[in-house]
Amino acid sequence: MATKKTTTRATSRATSGSKRIATKRPAAKSTHWSGRFSEPVDALVKRFTASVGFDQRLALVDIRGSLAHAKMLAKQRIISRTDLADIERGMQQIEREIRAGKFVWSLEAEDVHLNIERRLTALVGEAGKRLHTGRSRNDQVATDMRLYVRDEIDALIALLQTLQLRLIDAAEQYADVVMPGFTHLQVAQPVTFGHHLMAYVEMFERDRERLRDARRRVNRLPLGAAALAGTTYPIDRLHVAKTLGFEAVCSNSLDAVSDRDFAIEFCACASLILVHLSRLSEELILWVSPRYGFVTIADRFCTGSSIMPQKKNPDVPELVRGKSGRVIGHLMGLLVLMKAQPLAYNKDNQEDKEPVFDTIDTLRDCLSVFADMVTGIRPVPARMRAAALEGYATATDLADYLVCKGIAFRDAHEIVAAAVKAAETKGCDLADLSLKELQVFSARMSADVKGWLTLEGSLARRAHLGGTAPTQVRRAAAQARQRLKK
Ligand code: ARG
Repeated sequence: MATKKTTTRATSRATSGSKRIATKRPAAKSTHWSGRFSEPVDALVKRFTASVGFDQRLALVDIRGSLAHAKMLAKQRIISRTDLADIERGMQQIEREIRAGKFVWSLEAEDVHLNIERRLTALVGEAGKRLHTGRSRNDQVATDMRLYVRDEIDALIALLQTLQLRLIDAAEQYADVVMPGFTHLQVAQPVTFGHHLMAYVEMFERDRERLRDARRRVNRLPLGAAALAGTTYPIDRLHVAKTLGFEAVCSNSLDAVSDRDFAIEFCACASLILVHLSRLSEELILWVSPRYGFVTIADRFCTGSSIMPQKKNPDVPELVRGKSGRVIGHLMGLLVLMKAQPLAYNKDNQEDKEPVFDTIDTLRDCLSVFADMVTGIRPVPARMRAAALEGYATATDLADYLVCKGIAFRDAHEIVAAAVKAAETKGCDLADLSLKELQVFSARMSADVKGWLTLEGSLARRAHLGGTAPTQVRRAAAQARQRLKK
């Protein structure tokens, strides 16, 4: 039974390009774990405990980690130079096989680590058997995950940057386009579309900061902790750390093999990025709806309905909003995964992979599709302006005007409330009231008040740091662009 052919699906979009997990490799030894076991592992248990279906995407980082380990073993004279040369030659061959999609993954060998090690031994013999000296899969897998997440963080930071640049381009282009700013989803005060877009640039800037910060804690080396207690060989962990570009080594061997904080932190960063994307999605969905009609999204990002011929749906933002739930779910899953684990390594930890990988894939897709979509968003200025004129958006400006004329703000607030009420009764905007009509509420009003009631006047007065005036939006965009160059 144990030698029966087994195939599982390779789900990963792995760096490996591998396709299939095959059957038992002919060269593989008995399916007993070792001489200590008196019967082979049950077939279901084998499938249940195996991770090669999803962890084969760690293959290339696994090889990187093994080569660094072997180099150190040779330097410390724990293995010979010839062994090292054999290991390097074998790994080169394995890497070629993986990249070409020709590597045969075997469920018998349980996971990516054992698959590669077995192939190595098949290719180079004795030296392959010496590679695992002073190492355990526990510190090996923790190292692989850190290397993998580190690379992905770098790629995601670059994607965030692209998205930010596109948003900045749009913000500059639409720095003068007036739209209503909302609080409680009610028209509050006029803002510019450019200013609104720049708000997201800020969110994504914090996201990049967070990823960079999390990267520092990802970038520490577990290797050397071995199974949990360290090893008896005279290893040089700093050497391995340097070879692999780690900034430090994990200082406690128990913590080194059992810590998955780095994965949780990464998923927390990812969740927050998706929260930001989801908020922007929600706004786009509202804005393209005919009720708002504030923007259009290029057709290539929309889909139709199979029954209603008139429909053009914002599927992309809707899906991104939906996918945020999935990634937040992964974060929750990882927190619960870790919360009751005693030190040190437990097999539970194998469950960290799929959530982390799916988080990476989902986030990468969401960021890529958004970066493209942003270039296809066009405001409809007339609709935005009309909406801004509907909600007495310049009422605060009128109060500020009265304050300039010497009235206390609380009194000014009351006066304007009465004026708004009158305009409402008359069915017009504040700017449509004549000077005479306004003077009924305060004798301090004079001809210059009109300049305070227009949307452009309201915007232009908010030219301070962080304000919505077009001049300030352009400045903020230029500064953000500078910041991205660093
Ligand atoms: N596939 C395992 C994982 O992902 C590798 C470590 C196995 N270690 C062990 N002691 N069984 O965690």
